[in-house]
Amino acid sequence: MTSRAAYSRLQIALHWVIAILILAAWLTHENMGRALESRIKSGATGFEGNTPHVWLGITVFVLVLIRIVVRRVQGAPGPLPGSTPLMEMAATWGHRLLYLLMVLTPALGAVAWNAHSETVGELHETVGSALMLVALAHALVAIWHQYVKKDGSLTRITRPQG
Ligand code: HEM
Ligand code: HEM
Repeated sequence: MTSRAAYSRLQIALHWVIAILILAAWLTHENMGRALESRIKSGATGFEGNTPHVWLGITVFVLVLIRIVVRRVQGAPGPLPGSTPLMEMAATWGHRLLYLLMVLTPALGAVAWNAHSETVGELHETVGSALMLVALAHALVAIWHQYVKKDGSLTRITRPQG
């Protein structure tokens, strides 16, 4: 893994496209409980009856897998200037948690949808809500870094290098 001053153009594009798609999936979840119920009743399988929420979620899943590969290959910038070992550790584990939730949420949604399971559907809802909460905290921390600590955190994920 290499260490650069900023994320690459591809990493930045993936970060923001995925963030927007996750938000869109969140905003389209409204009638999914009922959609799952009628899918189970009608016995539908495959792409039949897929809703915008399902398509958005599947796209997130595929892009996140690509993103993880790109991350393994290209690495990430080193620690932010002025950060303590504790802050570095919090950032590393916070980001790992986000990756985990970004994989688990659509994966559980897909299992609920295709295995016709309301129990997995409930688990998907819980993990999806956790993803939104952690992402919100992540965004607030990023804004704090950029505008209070003024350490250029947001610049690393908006202006590419490499
Ligand atoms: C990042 C992607 C996703 C996010 C953030 C997300 C988020 C959510 C949330 C918050 C709910 C709860 C809805 C409620 O309380 O009424 C939900 C429900 C649901 N989602 Fe997703 N979802 C994602 C991807 C997917 C995918 C890929 C599928 C299927 C292939 C899917 C299928 C479902 C189903 C079936 C429900 C209803 C579950 C039930 O009521 O038992 N979701 N989703
Ligand atoms: C669903 C929404 C989001 C998710 C899931 C998400 C996830 C992530 C992840 C996993 C990383 C680590 C990248 C890596 O090291 O490979 C990251 C980096 C970053 N994100 Fe987000 N993000 C989201 C939204 C946002 C928003 C709204 C902001 C700003 C307001 C933001 C600001 C940043 C910044 C500044 C970094 C770079 C941190 C550093 O300097 O290392 N993110 N994001």
